[in-house]
Amino acid sequence: MKKILITGGAGFIGSHVVRLFVNQYPKYRIINLDKLTYAGNLENLRDVDQKPNYRFIKGDIAESGFINTLFAEEQFDGVIHLAAESHVDRSLENPNEFVITNIVGTVNLLHAASKAWQSNPEKRFYHISTDEVYGSIHGGGLFTESTHIDPQSPYSASKASSDHFVSAFGNSYKLPVLISRCSNNYGPNHFPEKLIPLMINNIIEEKPLPVYGKGENIRDWLYVIDHARAIDVIFHKGKTGEVYNIGGNNEWKNIDLVNFLCKVMDEKLGREEGASSKLITFVKDRPGHDLRYAIDSSKLQSQLGWSPSVTFEEGLNKTVDWYLSNKDWLSHVTSGSYRDYYSNMYANR
Ligand code: NAD
Ligand code: TYD
Repeated sequence: MKKILITGGAGFIGSHVVRLFVNQYPKYRIINLDKLTYAGNLENLRDVDQKPNYRFIKGDIAESGFINTLFAEEQFDGVIHLAAESHVDRSLENPNEFVITNIVGTVNLLHAASKAWQSNPEKRFYHISTDEVYGSIHGGGLFTESTHIDPQSPYSASKASSDHFVSAFGNSYKLPVLISRCSNNYGPNHFPEKLIPLMINNIIEEKPLPVYGKGENIRDWLYVIDHARAIDVIFHKGKTGEVYNIGGNNEWKNIDLVNFLCKVMDEKLGREEGASSKLITFVKDRPGHDLRYAIDSSKLQSQLGWSPSVTFEEGLNKTVDWYLSNKDWLSHVTSGSYRDYYSNMYANR
């Protein structure tokens, strides 16, 4: 019997991690702590929220008093920390939110865990980070776990800072910590502000597809369920004090990815070939736009035996099918503040 706190479990990746743990470990108690910001949505967990081993708590990791009380009362055996502000464009507009949640919130959790756990080596504090902390690759090569941390956006600076705090608590208080750094995820339940779900939503609605700059930036894409599987493996088999990179070995130039997605969706929507690509609109580039992320996940593959389970083509097809059959979800999350945010954002481009 284990009691695991998952933070940010109502968000995109968190909801897949909660689902996997609730279904795969019926003897664990899974506690999902989430503030339910614009990115958190309990609809993401409808299929598991009545299970006896699951409980939801609405709360803010930035509130230290609340977090200390929670840890003192609940006796968690482990933490899987995903709660974060996660969108680079928003971090350029409002960096303070990123400092408060990603840095202060993480430090609150670390501090509460180290007080409650008293260096007990059986506990596990697992921090979910991103390959963006390594910065941008100009030219060839891949990020490895020993690549110098060199964040370039306010989002990645806040994540890099939280990574440093995690390592510092491991060193200073002997908190048993683990960190993983994953490349760009895609899949069901992804809020339509990130590249792939935004494009899917706009293709459905036949709206312009805003490609930043010339579309030459490169990202490595991993299906979200494969990220959740990696988190399961690292949580159970990873060595404390270690960092593990997670990646799809699947690099795409943005413009090529958007054209491929247009092709897949034209077929599914019964539109003429090339119809959706005509919606591509090149817009002003993101300030300080990282050119390329590419990750070497061979440590995770060779030491812990993880590898991706689907190809990009399979994953993208599953993702598009999910969005086409969950139009209610899309219309719920794109109503209200989302529309205001996007109309302001694109008015400035
Ligand atoms: P998301 O934005 O979809 O979800 C974040 C969740 O955190 C939401 O449910 C939100 O309500 C919750 N949250 C935000 N602030 C909170 C607070 N103060 N207290 C409690 N809950 C709060 O993000 P995501 O894409 O699922 O990312 C999850 C984690 O994975 C993040 O830490 C992110 O940095 C990391 N990550 C994401 C990607 C990616 O491609 N999306 C890749 C690598 C790593
Ligand atoms: P995004 O999904 O925001 O993830 P990240 O910036 O964390 O990698 O963006 C992925 C890539 O797509 C990135 O190079 C920026 C680009 N992009 C666009 O060209 N248009 C868009 O509307 C968005 C949201 C992103």
